[in-house]
Amino acid sequence: MNEVEPLNPVLSELQNAAFGSLGDFKTRLAHVPEDLVDLSVGDPAALPPEPITAEIAERLADRSTYPLAVGVPELREAVAAWYAARFGVEIDPDTEIVPTVGSKEAIAHFQHVVCGGDRDAVVVTEPGYNTPARSARFAGADVVTVPLSPGNGWLPDLDAVPAALWTKTAVLWLNYPNNPTGAVAPLELLEHAATLAVRHGFWLAADEPYTEIWYDAPPASALEVADRSRVVAFTSLSKRSGLTGFRSGALVAPAGLVRAIRLFRANYGLAPTHFVQHGAVAAWRDEEHVAAMRDVYRRRHDLFVEALDSRGIEFWGRHATLYVWARVPSDTDSEGFALRCLEAGVAVTPGNWFGQGGEGFVRIACVASDAECERAAQILAGLWL
Ligand SMILES: Cc1ncc(COP(=O)(O)O)c(C=O)c1O
Repeated sequence: MNEVEPLNPVLSELQNAAFGSLGDFKTRLAHVPEDLVDLSVGDPAALPPEPITAEIAERLADRSTYPLAVGVPELREAVAAWYAARFGVEIDPDTEIVPTVGSKEAIAHFQHVVCGGDRDAVVVTEPGYNTPARSARFAGADVVTVPLSPGNGWLPDLDAVPAALWTKTAVLWLNYPNNPTGAVAPLELLEHAATLAVRHGFWLAADEPYTEIWYDAPPASALEVADRSRVVAFTSLSKRSGLTGFRSGALVAPAGLVRAIRLFRANYGLAPTHFVQHGAVAAWRDEEHVAAMRDVYRRRHDLFVEALDSRGIEFWGRHATLYVWARVPSDTDSEGFALRCLEAGVAVTPGNWFGQGGEGFVRIACVASDAECERAAQILAGLWL
């Protein structure tokens, strides 16, 4: 008998899945430069904006009580006001919003709310952020991948999915602006997905932490569709406000689903701490720091875009997200090229870590300081020759 049994078999399944970490990856090289620029994780590592820290500091002195899954009313109101101002959608703060501990846990836990019975499939796009697929396995669902490719602009062909699959689907996950490809979805695609969700009775789950990280025009939210009765959207302060460490997000869904989600979350003690929720109110009410954050990202993103463009390198992600997604040179594969980058002093993420559909690409997260990004862009561009 294995010494850690009993163990959920999904854990063994994940151990065998191809997904690396920068730490493991570094051990493959005899020498990693000391002044390595780490562009492998989408963590802006920004200092929290002043209005937010001031609010949190004040709230730290409050009496400490258990936070409830329903969240504080001021936060739900601030999120609803932000959706109204940004996307022109009206959301009821009392019945349609749940504050979450960042969006990753909310995405993962959501699968436990909706998977089961005869709805045992979860559809994800690939290459993609792997939390939806992995949490679906823990929720007992089968994962079906829909490919994204340069030929379709990294947008899924939903009409290629057979109706028989939709009728046993619990959730279709879409993530636009997309990690890792940087693609932006037109509202028509989101409309089409929402219509399919209504027709076939599944949930369209829109994972939208990057809607505020754009470089030309602000992207749409799936909540803008005409009929959002089968849409659940996940948003976050992590990228918008650079608050990855605060763990603060929100989900928006129809009232009936929100009731079920609250019931589930109350059982797991899933609620953000009160002082973070109050800091989040300040963050959602302020657009100034978001515009400033966007300018910082734009500056860094431009450095990579210009460096790769000047060498004629094929890449995507011009319009949104923190990422540039580039095709690796023809003499190597994703991991081979990422190792080459690491050896040269820049950590990037091999595309196959986002699923086999990402093989042949690497993701560059434009998250280091200006000076480091400038140096990294020059190093990287030189590696394609
Ligand atoms: C596509 C996508 N969704 C969700 C998340 C989770 O973000 P957080 O938990 O910080 O809100 C990330 C983080 O990188 C992401 O890339």
